[in-house]
Amino acid sequence: MLLYTLIGGYMLTSVILFKYPTLLHKKKRVKFLCQHISHRGGAGESYENTMCAFRRAVAIGTQMLELDCHLTRDGEVVVSHDQNLLRSTGVDKNISDLDYKDLPLLKQRLPIDFEPDVEYVGSAREEDRRFALLRDVFEAFPTIPINIDIKINDDQLISKVSDLIKQYNREEYTVWGNFSDEVTQKCYKSNPNVNLLFSMQRVTMLIFLMYTGLLPFVPLKETHLEIFLPSIYLRRKGGISPIFLPLEKFVVRTINVLLIRPCLFNHLRARGIHVYFWVLNKDEEFKKAFDLGATGVMTDYPTKLKLFLKNQPME
Ligand SMILES: *[C@@H]1O[C@H](CO)[C@@H](O)[C@H](O)[C@H]1NC(C)=O
Ligand SMILES: *[C@@H]1O[C@H](CO)[C@@H](O)[C@H](O)[C@H]1NC(C)=O
Repeated sequence: MLLYTLIGGYMLTSVILFKYPTLLHKKKRVKFLCQHISHRGGAGESYENTMCAFRRAVAIGTQMLELDCHLTRDGEVVVSHDQNLLRSTGVDKNISDLDYKDLPLLKQRLPIDFEPDVEYVGSAREEDRRFALLRDVFEAFPTIPINIDIKINDDQLISKVSDLIKQYNREEYTVWGNFSDEVTQKCYKSNPNVNLLFSMQRVTMLIFLMYTGLLPFVPLKETHLEIFLPSIYLRRKGGISPIFLPLEKFVVRTINVLLIRPCLFNHLRARGIHVYFWVLNKDEEFKKAFDLGATGVMTDYPTKLKLFLKNQPME
C-alpha cells in the first residue's frame, strides 16, 4: 500500500514538474531567440564558412551564424568544417600542418555536404574564397549570436576560442560544444558562462531521464539541444558514410523516435533551453521542424528559410 502511494506520488510529481519545470528549476535566460540560423553561413548560397557568406546571411536577416573551427600550425583559430582540405580546396593537407597565410583558397565549385551531388559555384574573386579567422567574424558581427562547433578535441583550440569569446565580450551571444562529450565538458570547464550544446552522450541521457520520469528533477547545464531529422542523417554524405550498417541505421532511427517528442521540446523550452534542427533545406522540412516544436532551424539556404518564415507568421 505504502509502495503504491510512493510510486503514485512520484509519478504525479514527475508529471506536474514535467509540465511546469520552473516550479523546481530557475528558467535559463538565454539572451537571444533565433528561428533563422545560417549553417556555415549558408553553404548553398555562398562559399561556406567565409566572411562573404556571413556578411550575406546577416544582410538577409539571419539571426544566428553556425560555424566550425580548427587551429592552424601557427595557432590561429580558423573557420572551416573539415580538418583536411581536400574537399574544400582540392589540396590534400591538414589545416594543423599549415600556417594561416599558406591556407589555399576554397575551390570555385564547392560540394555542399547536406545536398549530395550539388555544388555551390560562385565568383572567381579570390577574396570571396579565403578562409576566415574566428577573430574577424567576432569583430564584424559583435551582436549576432554565433554557434561554434569545436571540431577537434584539442585543449589549445578550446582555450583559444574561449579567450576570443571573452576578449570580444560575447559569452552570452555564443553557443559552443560538439557531439563528443569530452570536448563539450572541456568547453564547459573552460567557461561555464557560454551557452552549451548537449553532446551525444547527454542526449542519450536526456532520453533515459525522460522515459524514467526523472528528467524534471535533474538540473541541466546545457542551453541548446541541436538535433536532426532522421531523413537528414540518411541523406547525408561527407563525414558519415552514406552506406549504413543495418545496426547503425537502427540505432539512429531508435534514438530519433525516442527523442523527437514535442512534449520533450515543450519541457525544455519551459526551462529556457532552445531546440534547433539541422540541416534543413526544404520548405516541407522547415514546416515539420517548427510543427514539432523547434525554436530554430539551421539551413544552407538562408534566403529560402527567410521566405518561409515570412509566409508563415508565427506567434
Ligand atoms: C590529417 O590528420 C589525420 C588525423 O590526425 C591523419 O590521419 C591524416 O593522415 C592527416 N592527413 C594528411 C594529409 O596529413
Ligand atoms: C565533433 O568533433 C568530431 C571530432 O572530435 C568531429 O568529427 C565532428 O564533426 C564534430 N562535430 C559534431 C557535430 O559532431
